[in-house]
Amino acid sequence: MSQSEHRIYARIAGTGSCLPERVVSNEELAQRVDTSDEWIRTRTGIRQRHVAGEGETTSELAYRAALRALEAAGTDPSELDLIVLGTTTPDLIFPSSACIVQHKLGAQGCMAFDVNAACSGFIYALTIADKFIRSGAAKTALVMGAETLTRMLDWNDRGTCVLFGDGAGAVVLKADTETGILSTHMHADGSKKDLLWNPVGVSVGFKPEEENAGVRVLMTGNEVFKHAVKALDAVVDEALESNGLERSALDWLVPHQANLRIIEATAKRLAMPMERVIVTVDRHGNTSSGSVPLALDEAVRSGCIERGQLLLLEAFGGGFTWGSALLRY
Ligand code: UT7
Repeated sequence: MSQSEHRIYARIAGTGSCLPERVVSNEELAQRVDTSDEWIRTRTGIRQRHVAGEGETTSELAYRAALRALEAAGTDPSELDLIVLGTTTPDLIFPSSACIVQHKLGAQGCMAFDVNAACSGFIYALTIADKFIRSGAAKTALVMGAETLTRMLDWNDRGTCVLFGDGAGAVVLKADTETGILSTHMHADGSKKDLLWNPVGVSVGFKPEEENAGVRVLMTGNEVFKHAVKALDAVVDEALESNGLERSALDWLVPHQANLRIIEATAKRLAMPMERVIVTVDRHGNTSSGSVPLALDEAVRSGCIERGQLLLLEAFGGGFTWGSALLRY
């Protein structure tokens, strides 16, 4: 028996997603802050975003996305060995939102935890689940990226409030002897914390009596932009090189959806036409960890992405954190 016949891969068996009901257009935001549909569209590619309403918590959106992914995979929640949720906006400080999702699914007993890697949360969560499956420690995993970032936006800051939206995506991974995730690469640079962060926390001093006084996303957008393009260029090169693949081998790029101009820069680096790039930022805005699995599910369900195709997923976010996953779907 050859070496490769012993290999275990984590293969995506099903995908799902969920968006909040309420849609907020650029025009609606322009009535609140000094901005315009034209500025938002030309600088970011965003036309609208979904904003979570009452009851649409991170765990609830993740749960609904998970139900769809489980159904698509033909998997019962009782089969899950592992639940990992990438999020930077958990329902509560603890327990983790993954534990809340586990309970909602009725999937008692398996391990469940959150991963906070800001917008790279789904790539980090996918990487962890891939390692568990490759090592034989888990056979079936639920991996989600879910956020309600709009809950912590300063709606008077035009520099950030026009960028973000809420949503969740999920995949069910199953151990497979043929193919699946080929490689993942994760990186972080904690020295750039102040360029994209939320200064409110528990151990630095949480003052609930101040009524969300400090709960807001702070970003130096143009600096983040430059770092994102550079890091994503490097991480897509790294993914191809470590698999000995040419750029032309890729069927689809499924990028983090922060800004259409960043997506176009990565596509250019890969010499990929935009018809081979999944774009949802126009309708979803930046949903942080939700963005990659949301885009993936949309492309799978619309029939763009087909079984056997080679996909490159990538993300960049606060931390800084960034990473990629190369997989055969
Ligand atoms: O997902 C995590 C990673 N996040 C990202 O990757 C986001 C990366 N950054 C970006 O996407 C872009 O930097 C932004 C979309 C945030 C900003 O675009 P930009 O082309 O970098 O603009 P800028 O920050 O350099 O600002 C240009 C001008 C400024 O005015 P002055 O100083 O030139 O007079 C801003 O005050 O645009 C102004 N501006 C706005 N004007 C209208 C900033 N926000 C707005 C707005 N409407 N919403």
